[in-house]
Amino acid sequence: MQKNPIVPFILIAAFGIALIFFLSIQGVDKKKEIAEGHEEGATEETEGGESAEGFDPEAVAQGKCISCHGGDLAGQGNFPSLVDTKLSKEEIAEVITNGKGAMPPGLVEEANVDAMAEYILTLE
Ligand code: HEC
Repeated sequence: MQKNPIVPFILIAAFGIALIFFLSIQGVDKKKEIAEGHEEGATEETEGGESAEGFDPEAVAQGKCISCHGGDLAGQGNFPSLVDTKLSKEEIAEVITNGKGAMPPGLVEEANVDAMAEYILTLE
């Protein structure tokens, strides 16, 4: 039987295409994993779909809280320290959601308030 010189090329092409499929499917899986919050600082409790994907409380604190509560959230002037607060998680969440005194409400989206309160509790 005469060998068709094209066959090895077809095999290599088919292998290449299969490889592309394999890698892209793997990529989609990885993407999901990353989106589900495997970054540092993400709490284990994000599983139940409580907090939005990729919420990073530390980054949000740096962006939205330090202007009043100070660079390390340890308080400044009339703004109380969030470090080692005596408040419970629920009380912190309540302040974040509804504001308090000069503190405006709604700085953190509702879905992320819990994660934010948990983060505040880790400050020391
Ligand atoms: C505009 C200034 C301002 C910003 C921004 C701000 N806060 Fe506040 N925060 C305050 C003030 C003022 C109080 C004290 C309110 C009072 O006791 O009357 C307070 C109190 C709190 C308390 C209660 C502390 C205690 O011991 O009673 C928590 C918790 C808190 N803030 C969390 C946050 C978080 C988290 C952010 C960022 C998402 C934030 N705050 C951003 C001004 C601010």
